[in-house]
Amino acid sequence: MRTLFDRARLGTLSLKNRCIRAATWERMARAGGHLSPALMRMYAELAEGGVSLIETGYASIFPWEQPNPGMMGMHDDRLVEEYAVLSGVVHDGGSRLAMQLAYGGSQTRYLPSSRLIWGPSAVRHPASGVVPTPMSIRDIGDLAEGFAAAAARSKDAGCDGVMIHAAHGYLLGQFLSPLFNRRTDDYGGPLPNRARIILDVYGAVREAVGRSYPVLIKINCSDFVDGGATFADSMYVCRELDKQGIDAVEVSGGGLPPGAGQSYYRDYGACLSCLLSAPVILVGGNRDPVELQRILEDTKLSFFSFSRPLLREPGLIARWERGDRSPAACTSCGECFHDEGNYCPYR
Ligand SMILES: Cc1cc2nc3c(=O)[nH]c(=O)nc-3n(C[C@H](O)[C@H](O)[C@H](O)COP(=O)(O)O)c2cc1C
Repeated sequence: MRTLFDRARLGTLSLKNRCIRAATWERMARAGGHLSPALMRMYAELAEGGVSLIETGYASIFPWEQPNPGMMGMHDDRLVEEYAVLSGVVHDGGSRLAMQLAYGGSQTRYLPSSRLIWGPSAVRHPASGVVPTPMSIRDIGDLAEGFAAAAARSKDAGCDGVMIHAAHGYLLGQFLSPLFNRRTDDYGGPLPNRARIILDVYGAVREAVGRSYPVLIKINCSDFVDGGATFADSMYVCRELDKQGIDAVEVSGGGLPPGAGQSYYRDYGACLSCLLSAPVILVGGNRDPVELQRILEDTKLSFFSFSRPLLREPGLIARWERGDRSPAACTSCGECFHDEGNYCPYR
């Protein structure tokens, strides 16, 4: 019988358990994506807290692009040395590190008028009001190269893998969504065209890091918006990535659906886990280890990831491992976002 604390394979990695820290923008990096002492302390604490793998908060792939303040960065060779210190800290704590790489795009309120913001088409973002610059075919190639170069730097910095962020309404997810993607070229219209940029980015990243380096993707199972990307779209992308050797797929959806309860994308994740040979990571509302054990028994899902519960209790997984299996203290209140850094006010 599979359990939460089994050793489990993720590509060439053998992880010490099935519990992962989900990518969480900490808002603690210094300008230019430089690391801060607070960030280092947070990663040391997470690594010692029992998770087998830590996904970083999303990191910029270009110096001119970042959707939020205080983000990490993998956009410059000069960052490699300091991120090598971070991966050392995580390894010393007994965990592994995967850099999450992202291009934000029009879903941003951070300095939107002073920088170039790419999008699939010039469609105004309903929340931010930003109208992005439609990408040329050449820009799409540059984007894939930007992801690839950032992945190569992550590998040089001693990270154990990279995760491509294609979820939560950022640029890669926008290409998949007919609401944002009005293109009539090879990157718009039918599903294989809307999905093409994600496969291009994966291909370029894989080429840069080699066959045996873990490459993960985070993707929405659905946008849960009329006219947006659907579960059928997501299944197609995941199957194509699976054929091309992706090492794991993390299934998310919208950002933080209010009142969503325990493991709220479970049915989508379970379905994907049957379709793919790559392991599937379930994120969102994972709180009760008894329920998580049941999911392991009833589905083919391989891993669970946790964001808000670890802001509240960085040592949650070690606590469960020691035998205290009461659910995470996190109440999913969503009060984690603060100007001075993202943290749990109830910790
Ligand atoms: C403060 C905060 C920052 C987040 N930053 C990221 C991020 O950088 N990348 C990402 O893919 N998801 C991010 N998320 C979403 C989480 O990874 C996760 O998908 C979501 O919080 C649901 O999981 P949970 O119920 O365990 O919190 C963030 C969530 C929170 C609360």
